[in-house]
Amino acid sequence: MKKLGVFGTSGFAREIADIADELGYEPFLIAKDETEAAIGSSMWPIVLESDLEQAEGTVYALGIGENNIRAKVVNRYSGKLSFVNLIHPSASFGKHQLEQIQAQEGVIICAGVRFTNNIDVGSYSIFNLNATIGHDVIIEDFVNIAPGAHISGNVLIERECWVGTGAVINQGSNEKKLMIGAGTTIGSGAVVIKDCEEQAVYVGAPARRIK
Ligand SMILES: CC(C)(COP(=O)(O)OP(=O)(O)OC[C@H]1O[C@@H](n2cnc3c(N)ncnc32)[C@H](O)[C@@H]1OP(=O)(O)O)[C@@H](O)C(=O)NCCC(=O)NCCS
Repeated sequence: MKKLGVFGTSGFAREIADIADELGYEPFLIAKDETEAAIGSSMWPIVLESDLEQAEGTVYALGIGENNIRAKVVNRYSGKLSFVNLIHPSASFGKHQLEQIQAQEGVIICAGVRFTNNIDVGSYSIFNLNATIGHDVIIEDFVNIAPGAHISGNVLIERECWVGTGAVINQGSNEKKLMIGAGTTIGSGAVVIKDCEEQAVYVGAPARRIK
């Protein structure tokens, strides 16, 4: 059985280990230091990041929700570790969509996620439980789509955005996608009806900028 190291020891890392289990890997968790190892779960073995060279031949996944921390881990191991896509078997995909995603790196797709077609998914993004992604959407690298969020058609989500649980992003058009600027957070339950600026926080229905 192929070993798979999951960066992180949090509840989310455990959820990622579950997907790895389901896909037939033998998962272990990777703690950044002794303190993180001490608070980690005993469900899977925990290896310290400083001991990783002992685990050659394994593949890796990112069990870290924070987009900027995922980006730091990827930069630290650029060209050294292989981050696999983990796609839960219950996710569904429109025509050619699975092939597009499989050409990326480090994409996590949890149970029940639905993609239609002509969606451009970048690398190292997370699609959490039961999220739906409509047609002609672009999702750049290091995005986190939380459980039950709904992204309508013709939307552009720039890198390192976080779309909160149950948020709804209205559709853009063929001429102009509705855009969420880089690094922006959309609060849980928000309804986004127009473009969102970058590095901002939006909440509510309709969504308004609070930070
Ligand atoms: C939007 C969010 C990031 C704001 O967090 P924050 O920066 O710590 O902001 P605060 O908690 O200080 O709240 C600021 C204001 O926004 C309001 N607010 C926060 N989140 C809100 C939400 N989701 N919907 C509506 N209003 C919200 C607060 O009530 C507060 O209003 P006030 O100033 O009138 O009291 C956070 O509340 C959120 O929704 N995160 C997403 C959670 C999620 O989806 N997790 C997924 C886990 S997988």
